[in-house]
This record gives sequence, C-alpha cells and structure tokens, in this order.
Amino acid sequence: MGDLRPVGLFDSGVGGLTVAREVFRLLPHESMIYFGDTAHVPYGPRRTEELIRFAREIIAFLLSSRVKYIIFACGTNSSLTLPVVRALYDVPMIGLVEPGAQEAVKSTRNGRIGIIATEATVKSGAYERAIKSLALETAVFAVPAPRLVPLVEAGLSTSEEARRAVFEYARPLKKAGIDTLILGCTHYPFLASHFTDCLGPEVTLVDPAKATVLRAREEMNRLGILNNPGGRVAHSYYVSGDPARFQKTADLLGCCIENVQRLQLEEALPAGSG
Ligand code: DGL
Repeated sequence: MGDLRPVGLFDSGVGGLTVAREVFRLLPHESMIYFGDTAHVPYGPRRTEELIRFAREIIAFLLSSRVKYIIFACGTNSSLTLPVVRALYDVPMIGLVEPGAQEAVKSTRNGRIGIIATEATVKSGAYERAIKSLALETAVFAVPAPRLVPLVEAGLSTSEEARRAVFEYARPLKKAGIDTLILGCTHYPFLASHFTDCLGPEVTLVDPAKATVLRAREEMNRLGILNNPGGRVAHSYYVSGDPARFQKTADLLGCCIENVQRLQLEEALPAGSG
C-alpha cells in the first residue's frame, strides 16, 4: 500500500485551482485538500505579518487533516511566507518561485524576463532574486497588477474589463522587449489568452504550476510518500468565505470541483495552534 494521506494546497481563493489541475494531471493517484482563504482575498495588498498569521492557521488546519506534503499554491505566499515558515514544520513544503524562475531562465532566448504578480510578490523581489541566482545577467522587469485577482474572483476573467486591465499592465513589458513572462500569481493563468493577445505568441508565458508539481512529485518519490496507483483518491475543498460563490467562480473558470465546505479557521483550530 502507498501513502494514502492527502497533499495540501492553499491560496487566497480560486487561483490555486491552476495548481490543483496540475496535481490532478501529474499526481493522479493522490488525494488533495484545498483551502481557499476567500474571507481574506486579495492577499496582494496585505502586510507580511498578516500573511504569515493566515499561512500558519491554514497550515495548522492542513496538518490536522494529516497532509503529507504542502504545496503553496499562491505566488504571494510562496514569495513572502514560505521562506519564514518552512523551518517551523516537519512536513515537506514547496512554493512556486524557484521552479517558476528556473522555467523562465530555460525559456528565455534574449535574456529579458517579465514578471507579473501581486504588489506583495513584486515588492518582495523573490522572483527577481531566484532568476538572478540562476542567470545573473538576465534583465528582469516586474509589474504589480492589483486589479486582476478581484476580477478573476468575481468571475469576470473573460470580460472586456479584465482584457483592458491585462493590456494596461502588460504593455510596458512588451515595450521592454521581454520574450518570457512569468505569471507570478496563480490567478493569472485564467487570463492567459488576454496576455497572449497583448504580447503576441512570440512571448512565452510561464505558469510555474507545472514545474512546481513536477518537483513536488520528485520529492515525494524520494521521500517514499507517493500513493500507489489504484489506491483510494478523494479531494476536498474548504473556503473561509462563501462556498457557493467559490463553486460558482470555479464553474465559470471550467474547474470541475464539488463539495466545497465553509471553514472558519479561528473556530476550527484549538487555541494556540498554528
Ligand atoms: N493567487 C495568489 C497569488 O498567487 C493570491 C493573490 C491575491 O489574493 O492577491 O499571489
């Protein structure tokens, strides 16, 4: 028998579903517990201390659900909280930054890489550091895009408003002559067609999710914690806000999920945990 314990994923909302879909594809024998902190979305404008508090509460919940591995399915948490909290837990964890940076460095031909992400992620400089540690000479252009997450969460990813916002944010990157763009927030792959329309097909869009889940698979294999093919697989979804709203947005985005449950972390966790 393999390791039946689930893999834990978390994000501020529906963005992490772009990582979950890679889990379904690349780790089809694994069960998953997903937490969307929709009561606190968007994370992008928040302070690091607050994000760390949320992340610790979510991790405590995931650990109480016996997860064997945690994927930070959020660019903001991958950039700001993972480097702080990793040392506090025994459970193995991975974020999107290093795998995404590696993909981008592999992809660029002209050494000009763009990053589009939340304000917090851009301010952290995490992607830029990761890219420079791999290829010092790379020119990096980072643009914060605060309007995009609320539009995706509102189910408006295909709207004219979302398209206009993407064009506004991506235009300076086009001018800068990038040939590779990291979608540094997990909500943005839902807007990929707008980015391609603005930047043209010659600019490669890097969604760090695939490289991250591949790396997670390697690590889980090395640790001997993969589930066996044929083992029981079940996925559960929890949100801190309105489950019906989350379900509706996920449906609009073409994500097949069900049984979304509401969970308020302060109520669910024993005092002092996290
Ligand atoms: N999807 C998350 C990220 O990758 C969170 C964005 C937000 O809530 O602002 O950064």
